[in-house]
Amino acid sequence: MRIEPAASLVGHVVVPGDKSISHRALLIGSLCEGETKVDGFGRSGDTQATVEAVRTLGVEVEDVADDELVVHGVGLRALRAGSVDCANAGTLMRLLTGVLAGQEGEFVLGGDESLSSRPMERVAVPLRRMGADVETTGGHAPLTVRGSGDLHGIEFEPETASAQVKSAVLLAGLNAEGPTTVVERVPTRDHTELMLEAAGARVRRSAISVTVAPAGALQLGEVAVPGDFSSAAPLLVAAALVPGSDLTIHDLGVNARRTGLLAVLERMGARVSVFDRRREAGEPVASVQIQPGELVATEIGADEVPGLVDELPLVALLASHARGETRVTGARELRVKETDRIEAVTDGLRPLGARIHSRDDGWTVTGVPARLRGGRVDARGDHRIAMLGAVAGLASREGVAIEGADTAAISFPGFYELLESVTRR
Ligand code: S3P
Repeated sequence: MRIEPAASLVGHVVVPGDKSISHRALLIGSLCEGETKVDGFGRSGDTQATVEAVRTLGVEVEDVADDELVVHGVGLRALRAGSVDCANAGTLMRLLTGVLAGQEGEFVLGGDESLSSRPMERVAVPLRRMGADVETTGGHAPLTVRGSGDLHGIEFEPETASAQVKSAVLLAGLNAEGPTTVVERVPTRDHTELMLEAAGARVRRSAISVTVAPAGALQLGEVAVPGDFSSAAPLLVAAALVPGSDLTIHDLGVNARRTGLLAVLERMGARVSVFDRRREAGEPVASVQIQPGELVATEIGADEVPGLVDELPLVALLASHARGETRVTGARELRVKETDRIEAVTDGLRPLGARIHSRDDGWTVTGVPARLRGGRVDARGDHRIAMLGAVAGLASREGVAIEGADTAAISFPGFYELLESVTRR
């Protein structure tokens, strides 16, 4: 796929439903009593894997529309044993392991080549401490979970800030004896906590921890999924980079633990306005308008990383257009995402003309306020890298050819069409 340079990005759009919340609606909906109606479901390669996974485990999921489904929950402990294909979805594999830890029977969880190379002991370790039997294959998938009827609550502090690990432990805690606490010094996305609260679980939160009590019965009823901030991010960054742009994204999830990119865009000099703020099903929602400005370099460290972890590749692109030297540190986690995103970004942007160097835990980027030349970007099977290539193309002088562009559909089918609909040439 070739993306030609843009003259500007102009318009008003909405993006598909949040992927993190869509996964959780299916998994938590499966554990509920009765029906959960999911509105604004973000259907994508990853979330479809979760639909198929819960179906394999005996949960009926009705497809009402592309963005609407009904989950017929089976209750807290009635999932059916079986083998689940998690495809490319790390969130599915890690959260489901937590869900299954307290179920009866033997479950096998596999995934594609990329997912099978990602670290899984990080969820297995705390779940074993709770009394579950979780086996990894040398630290990776396939995983075997032999559910246990007598889990017990623990207090756990993950070594790396991770919403997936936190969520796995909390979900296992629903079926454990006594309270389960996860301590996190740097806050990560809290969609699991918010949805469990909405479902009637007893959740206690402090500034640095979250505790869930064993649950009697859960009921969600309805989940309204807001637009996915991480899917909006490529559009926001493209509009910040291309002079003359003026783009507004409506009905967008703006959970404070997800929107670190907005603070970075403002700090670097883009004009950001957030309006029409409201709350839907416990989640903050708003419209976000973005216009370009003269970009300047910035610093991003470990404390800020969880709030924009999936947007960091786009920050590297912003930095290559921003006057001065930008340093991103404390982001070693990027090395174990769908691909090693530190190297994928450096190898992707440098041939386009960016002055970027990988560090062990991030990048150093020397920016100039001018368009990159353009060239070719290899997505390496990673949806976020494919979308980065598209944004780089719009902001370039000669355009960018993306190898493996189709992988964008893992999180955002229709991405290129939506981008094209707001692009003027
Ligand atoms: C996610 C958490 C993050 C993020 C991923 C989705 C989630 O992963 O990168 O895309 O839905 O909980 P980590 O928990 O590994 O940081």
